[in-house]
Amino acid sequence: MMNEKIKIAVLVSGGGTNLQALIDAEHSGEIKSGNIALVVSNVKDAYALTRAENAGIENITVSKKELGSQEAFEDKLISELEKRGIELIVLAGFMSILSEKFTRHFSDRIINVHPSLIPSFCGKGFYGLRVHEAALEYGVKVTGATVHFVNEIPDGGKIIMQKAVKIRECDTPETLQKRVMKIAEWKILPQSCEKVCQDLLSKKA
Ligand code: GAR
Repeated sequence: MMNEKIKIAVLVSGGGTNLQALIDAEHSGEIKSGNIALVVSNVKDAYALTRAENAGIENITVSKKELGSQEAFEDKLISELEKRGIELIVLAGFMSILSEKFTRHFSDRIINVHPSLIPSFCGKGFYGLRVHEAALEYGVKVTGATVHFVNEIPDGGKIIMQKAVKIRECDTPETLQKRVMKIAEWKILPQSCEKVCQDLLSKKA
């Protein structure tokens, strides 16, 4: 079918600026092969939920704390995603590591944005501001962002896109985080999302 689009769910935990970049890209037509059908937060009151609400996108919270275990949390996630026929999962600042059971269930259908040039400053313990603190502490002159497929190894799946960002002498973790988001993450996440949706559509045809 010509007009068919890939059904996307975006998983979030916080402010949701990457979610906003995806919403804006869908509105502008940059994302044309997919449709953001659902936003799931694992944190109640995450501002990302308000962004989804403002854009008229269905949004729910699935809380590991309330469900009691990682297994119950992932089972609930799977059932919410399957119930809606979700075909692509985008992790956009989702701060929970998913098990092998989950990643295998949606094999080649989960992508993530990470705020460094993988394989630097990634894996367990490297998330959010900590990634930029580590980059500054190490003294690298170039950092950036990576979008990759998600498998059972944290930040270990196949790379889809990367974009480099130069570090300035005066950078703090906060200034660096903002610049990496603006120059790299908010650009390569929507671009990667469109690319993966196009690939999934062509596999369907
Ligand atoms: C982003 O910088 C994202 O790359 C990072 O958290 C931030 C979320 O911001 N994700 C990770 O560190 C995952 N390992 P946002 O909620 O404004 O999109």
